[in-house]
Amino acid sequence: MKPVLMPAFGLALALGALASVSPASAQSAVSDGQKLAFDRGKGNCLTCHEIKGGDLSGSIGPPLKDIKSKYPDRNELVAIVTDETKRNPQTVMPPFGRNRILTDQEINAVVDFLQTL
Ligand code: HEC
Repeated sequence: MKPVLMPAFGLALALGALASVSPASAQSAVSDGQKLAFDRGKGNCLTCHEIKGGDLSGSIGPPLKDIKSKYPDRNELVAIVTDETKRNPQTVMPPFGRNRILTDQEINAVVDFLQTL
């Protein structure tokens, strides 16, 4: 199954197909994403969010759980991590993409990880 040949199918399905073709790389994006999220010099998400598997988390933001059911659209998560000030101008969450704290690729890995929560 080549996802490129099925533009009518949703992104989720395409990603599913991709994951079944290359489980190793899909898995490494998730673990890279977790590392970036927990890294105090990178995502530093634990400062504000409780996340399964992370220590010493803060509670400035909501616990990150059931993310896939809350945000089934992956693009919405990319948007939140890239620049939450677009949704909420008052937010204290850093705009990781706009401020170039994380690259697009890193944000994608973090979102892969978020979707496992
Ligand atoms: C300085 C604190 C802070 C940091 C660091 C932070 N966030 Fe947030 N985050 C928030 C707050 C506060 C909210 C609540 C929504 C708002 O303020 O707009 C939020 C909301 C979210 C949401 C939406 C959650 C929901 O249930 O609706 C996601 C997803 C999210 N953050 C992911 C991340 C990720 C991933 C990182 C690390 C790359 C991160 N955040 C780092 C403060 C933070």
